[in-house]
Amino acid sequence: MTDHEHTLERHAELVREIRQHDHRYYVLDDPVISDQQYDALYRELVDLERSHPEWVTSDSPTQRVGAEPRSGLVTVEHVIPMMSLDNTYSEEDLVDFIRRVRGGLPTGAEMTFCLEPKLDGASVELVYEGGRFVQGSTRGDGTHGEDITANMRTVRSLPLSIDHRGPLTLRAEVVIFRQDLARVNAERAERGEPPFANPRNAAAGSLRMLDPRVVAARPLRIFVWQVVEGPTLASSHGESLERIAALGLPTHGRHRICRDVESVLAEIARIDQERRSLPYETDGAVVKVDSFEQQQLLGSTAKFPRWAIAYKFSAERATTIVRAIVVQVGRTGALTPVAQLDPVQLAGTTVSRASLHNAQVLADLDVRVGDHVTIEKAGEIIPQVVAVEYGARVGDPPPFTMPKKCPACDAPVERRGEEVALRCTNPDCPAAVQQAIVYFAKRFAMDIDGLGEALVEQLVDTGLVHDVAELYDLDLPKLVALDRMGNKSAQNALDSITASRARPLARLLTGLGIEHVGPVAAEQLAQAAGSLQKLLGWSPEQAETTVAAINGFGPKMVQSVLDFLFDTRTRGLLEKLRDRHVSTAQPSRPQTAAGGPLAGASFCVTGVLSRPREKVHEQITLAGGQVHDKVKKDTQYLVAGEKVGRSKLETAKKYGARVISETELAAMIRG
Ligand code: IVH
Repeated sequence: MTDHEHTLERHAELVREIRQHDHRYYVLDDPVISDQQYDALYRELVDLERSHPEWVTSDSPTQRVGAEPRSGLVTVEHVIPMMSLDNTYSEEDLVDFIRRVRGGLPTGAEMTFCLEPKLDGASVELVYEGGRFVQGSTRGDGTHGEDITANMRTVRSLPLSIDHRGPLTLRAEVVIFRQDLARVNAERAERGEPPFANPRNAAAGSLRMLDPRVVAARPLRIFVWQVVEGPTLASSHGESLERIAALGLPTHGRHRICRDVESVLAEIARIDQERRSLPYETDGAVVKVDSFEQQQLLGSTAKFPRWAIAYKFSAERATTIVRAIVVQVGRTGALTPVAQLDPVQLAGTTVSRASLHNAQVLADLDVRVGDHVTIEKAGEIIPQVVAVEYGARVGDPPPFTMPKKCPACDAPVERRGEEVALRCTNPDCPAAVQQAIVYFAKRFAMDIDGLGEALVEQLVDTGLVHDVAELYDLDLPKLVALDRMGNKSAQNALDSITASRARPLARLLTGLGIEHVGPVAAEQLAQAAGSLQKLLGWSPEQAETTVAAINGFGPKMVQSVLDFLFDTRTRGLLEKLRDRHVSTAQPSRPQTAAGGPLAGASFCVTGVLSRPREKVHEQITLAGGQVHDKVKKDTQYLVAGEKVGRSKLETAKKYGARVISETELAAMIRG
């Protein structure tokens, strides 16, 4: 062999070896040589190709970052459209999907499903021809995407050549590992660029960059989830993934075959469990009919294939960016800082605001505008900021300080006693009044459904209404004179206000939002008084003895009720309501059955239930049980519906209360 032949052979050997090491490192995550050894091989190849440019082929490992920056991206057509997936959050829909699939296949046909995680990144199409990677494109609108071939070539886990000559079109997800995002964001911060809110945005943003050299520096990973064209490869989806993995292509390697509804549901649960420990983000499981022939038979609708569905996990946590911090005034005048966020999907809804609770929480978290934060749905509906990524902070935004004056009315703010909350000192603060009216009108209180938030705002702003009692002074001409108020909606509002006059006293007391007095306590208080008239007739001594005698009323609750009854302001409001004939006598409730099935047991009810919460309360009381608005030391059972706040569950645990479902409660009542 001549020297020349030797070097040519060495070149081929280097290319082969480097490809193998790339595959071991980037795809199998199982390198067999050190980084230094790898670098030495790579340098040797670069040197060889420098002396012999004629040996350089487009699929040489040195050619991943060849291209010059472009001035823009070119549009390409997807020969087979990239459809999206029908998706659901419910198991029932999944069972329906399986039923539909069965209906769409010949009777008696054997069905198998292939389940796999749904990767939360940016989807791309990859085309190989004659064993070479020739084109990569973004999903775009499904029929046309952008040519990102040069950028895809920089992704080291993607082989530039494979041992398969036939045409091969693949669909894949480009992702950034969670742990790599911090690094990308730190680099961006150094250049004064805003951080990416999540790995998906980082991946999608990277793919569309114009300079492949910059893309090469991004830790992009790719996982193939579908073989679209490659008919000779396999007869089923699962098998096709295995075949391409054997060709050295990166797949997620997490697909499993299931044969019936039960195993599909069990596998979904397993994927949900496992996903926390995966290095990339997933947001669901994809259920696919495994057989290609059956996929063909089922076909697709205009938007989705009929042979696949995504079951989405409702994320309890998400990351996003704080765009502003504003201060809201609540019904009690308390000032709440609220973060305005880049909209993000969380537990099936789009979230763009999160409460920061109070100045203390805000200061402890040290959230600033521009920060990268983790939000969580902890409470029943309100998302919270639970963590701030200080490392991703760009520049030095000033810490947020709470205002000295009320943002709504400019009155000074104060801190009462031991409280952390700052409150507006103006008892007529329009923002607080507005919130108090909104609360008053809630379904569980006075149930005034024609009174929307926008209308309340107008009523307060125009000075038509200064407190809840003045709602009952409204008439048609006054309402019609408001902006965007037609005759019909004015009449509706008026009718629902009028109807609310007939609510029993307990509803009225609930709507007034007396501190420490929730619907259950309000009901007990209303029972003790009988009517608003009688309540106002109590002397201070009488009130004290009566209220203190109510079962479950501790000193704080008693004091709060007495304050409300005898403070001139709030008493004035009660009198105003009485003069307007608001609320009716409280229907007396049969004394709780001492021998009832729940006798001696105490309950708290929370979460979204199959019926209004009051109904559940009533049922418990009728069965002899006691109900409280909050979980207390002596609460024995927490009846939990859906979307229960974590804090409630934690308190229940702390006090040793048993958490039971609505069904379990029903069983207890039946005895
Ligand atoms: S299969 C015809 N499998 O989810 C569509 N998609 O909502 C078949 N995705 O655009 C899609 N992981 O970007 C499939 N294992 C997976 C996936 C997956 C992520 C993405 C993909 C697609 C979107 C559909």
